[in-house]
Amino acid sequence: MRSVKVRAPATSANLGAGFDIFGIALDKPRLIVEVSESSSDETSIDVTGTYGEKVPTSPEENTAGIVAEAMGHPVQITIHAEIPISSGLGSSAAPAAATALGINVLHNTGHSREDLVWIAAEGERVSAGIPHADNVAAALFGGFNIVHERRIVSIKPKNIGITAVSPFVKVNTKKARKILPLKIKMSDFVFNAGSAAFMTAGMLRSDPELIGLGMENHVIEELRSQFIPGYMDVKKAATAAGALGVTISGSGPTMIAVSRLNQRDRIANAMKQAFREHDIDSIEYKTMIGAGAQVSR
Ligand code: HSE
Repeated sequence: MRSVKVRAPATSANLGAGFDIFGIALDKPRLIVEVSESSSDETSIDVTGTYGEKVPTSPEENTAGIVAEAMGHPVQITIHAEIPISSGLGSSAAPAAATALGINVLHNTGHSREDLVWIAAEGERVSAGIPHADNVAAALFGGFNIVHERRIVSIKPKNIGITAVSPFVKVNTKKARKILPLKIKMSDFVFNAGSAAFMTAGMLRSDPELIGLGMENHVIEELRSQFIPGYMDVKKAATAAGALGVTISGSGPTMIAVSRLNQRDRIANAMKQAFREHDIDSIEYKTMIGAGAQVSR
């Protein structure tokens, strides 16, 4: 039976002001999805790996199963789940992106990566309630991505240090979306537009200082940080240790800090320690902006 193995990265969406628009791929953690031809006309899903127990295997509840259904190719899917679940690191986007790419190769469906983004985004409905494409675009293209009005602009900045620290608390994406306001103040809009502009310029220049400034935002952070115990203390600790910007990864609870590559150890230690002071354990990834999903035969 023919099969294709795809490695797909964890991703971090929003980056502050780019809510549902910006996404980056992380060099690690990554997960592997094996997509095999199916002998039946139904998709089946197996899950293994560190976080495997928490991933649903029913195709209707799993982003990968929804993608297989949308592409019209029943397949056998094995997900090696190495991205923490419900952590804000795109654990549902990576299998969706990997499955879309895997089926494209296995069945020679001829879709472009951009087509695959819109297909994989459909999978996100089960976790977020809407097909937001920020994580899946980053998982498929790698680098920094702007998703807006059915267009994707992908930029590949170099040597941008990212420290992602995931506290062991759960945040439900649907709930974290419900608390957001329907209207915002003009002054907040102006501030966030400035931040998004800094972020984009910083990525084009591979400039971690400008990227760090671009992480500041006036709408989302304050509201969503209520779900992350010790948020402001962790942010302060990261900044004191050399972070150039700190924000919530996706809908959280992971916090990401941008920095020069050589500051990541100090920042990770400082963030973990600050969480510990709030009696929260965490797992850290000292990583960088990295590549998108890749087929490995
Ligand atoms: N843009 C999405 C949100 C990402 O913030 O709700 C979810 O991980």
